[in-house]
Amino acid sequence: MKATQKDSERMGFWDQVRVPPSGTPTAVPGIGGPQGRALPKLMVWLILFVSVTYVVYTLKLVSSSHACVDSEPFSTSRRLTASSSDDSSSAAAAANSSLASARNGTALAESEQRTELRHVVFGIAASAKLWEQRKNYIKLWYKPEEMRGIVWLDRAVAKRAGEGLPPVRISGNTSHFKYTNRQGHRSALRISRIVSETLRLGLKDVRWFVMGDDDTVFVAENLLRVLRKYDHRQYYYIGSLSESHLQNIYFSYGMAYGGGGFAISYPLAAALERVQDRCIQRYPGLYGSDDRIQACMAELGVPLTKELGFHQYDVYGNLFGLLAAHPVAPLVSLHHLDVVEPIFPNVTRVQALQRLMVPMKLDSAGLMQQSICYDKARSWTVSVSWGFAVQVFRGCSPPGDRDAGADLPQLVPEGGLHGVCFQHPAGQPEPVPEALRVLPVQREVRPVDKPDGERVPPAPGVQP
Ligand SMILES: *[C@@H]1O[C@H](CO)[C@@H](O)[C@H](O)[C@H]1NC(C)=O
Ligand SMILES: *[C@@H]1O[C@H](CO)[C@@H](O)[C@H](O)[C@H]1NC(C)=O
Ligand SMILES: *[C@@H]1O[C@H](CO)[C@@H](O)[C@H](O)[C@H]1NC(C)=O
Ligand SMILES: *[C@@H]1O[C@H](CO)[C@@H](O)[C@H](O)[C@H]1NC(C)=O
Repeated sequence: MKATQKDSERMGFWDQVRVPPSGTPTAVPGIGGPQGRALPKLMVWLILFVSVTYVVYTLKLVSSSHACVDSEPFSTSRRLTASSSDDSSSAAAAANSSLASARNGTALAESEQRTELRHVVFGIAASAKLWEQRKNYIKLWYKPEEMRGIVWLDRAVAKRAGEGLPPVRISGNTSHFKYTNRQGHRSALRISRIVSETLRLGLKDVRWFVMGDDDTVFVAENLLRVLRKYDHRQYYYIGSLSESHLQNIYFSYGMAYGGGGFAISYPLAAALERVQDRCIQRYPGLYGSDDRIQACMAELGVPLTKELGFHQYDVYGNLFGLLAAHPVAPLVSLHHLDVVEPIFPNVTRVQALQRLMVPMKLDSAGLMQQSICYDKARSWTVSVSWGFAVQVFRGCSPPGDRDAGADLPQLVPEGGLHGVCFQHPAGQPEPVPEALRVLPVQREVRPVDKPDGERVPPAPGVQP
């Protein structure tokens, strides 16, 4: 009963649906209607419907495409060209020439050339007190005929001609700026303003301002390799963190540490120059110059772009481990060379750096970078830090094993490279490979994470 009722209801529903479009109730073919008459009618209606739809659609397409052609900007301008030849042709020529100059113009062509040393200006923070000693580090890397740079001092120093040093200038008076940090020194204000003061000199064709200290050594070729990765027409603030975890906690993980050096693109330096003096007044409690720069960068909304080659080296003692494990990235800078031991043993700090200049000239790109290979027959791991150290470890230590050889005697081959020989597991020193012809030296190891007394203030409320 129920089923038949439902069927009839459904039939009624279908009928209702189909009745209105057909218009004439008699023409509606019921499902149970005579098939012979209903099918051709249905076909006719279907064909009619399809044809009408087709015609309407085609008409619409045609009319709309007409409308499109009418409103096409190019056709209008073409018509304009035809009607008023003088005005429009000059306009077209102007458009032509601007297009040509955009593609081929000197301005753009120049800005798309590779970044070279002449596009970089160094701003070097120095003090008159330490100048006589520290200028020797600048002499190591600064080439007056190829580079542009200014040393900013707090007061005048005795000048000697022909030393190959950048021109010296005296920083502006900062006595009207507030400085309330108890551990730090007011000179931070002066040093952070070096970016602005260097920009105000109005040097031409500058793409990057690179800041560094008087005890920072730059590898200029590698600096260029890094800078070429970035578009100098955009805002860029490039540098690196401290190696010291403590420093990064005290200061910031988003700050370019000043001694390691950092680069600021020209437009960003211009933006900074506009706000810096007001910005500095908002942060009188900060410690140094680089955290003041970072505060202003944060106001401008520019984050740090980290590059592994800038080295702040807030460490004491022997840099050997840090340097020998240098990542595969161009070595851009070394800093705190007064605080750490000479990077090669038994020579002065400056002599050690001069020794590093030899591999630097041969292949600056690979300098210090560590590569590791294995001698399976002897079960040795050989690590080569280009231009700096060769280490031979007993056994196969994978590159990710950072503790490998951490406290082993260090050996210096005659060629001047470092070497470290792995201790035999049984406690016997491993015989030195003949090929290396190494000489043992004493190595004093001091904790690497000890904060540098020059810089790190003690944590608030903690007695050092
Ligand atoms: C625009 O430049 C093209 C070639 O780049 C040239 O053939 C055309 O004559 C120029 N038109 C005008 C108006 O200068
Ligand atoms: C485009 O560059 C070529 C070669 O650099 C130069 O000869 C030509 O004059 C340039 N054209 C324009 C319009 O600057
Ligand atoms: C800096 O300015 C203050 C006053 O604003 C003045 O007393 C001081 O002598 C100036 N210092 C230098 C080095 O000119
Ligand atoms: C250190 O230098 C001195 C003099 O320059 C030299 O006699 C000595 O052999 C050197 N020591 C090492 C371990 O190279």
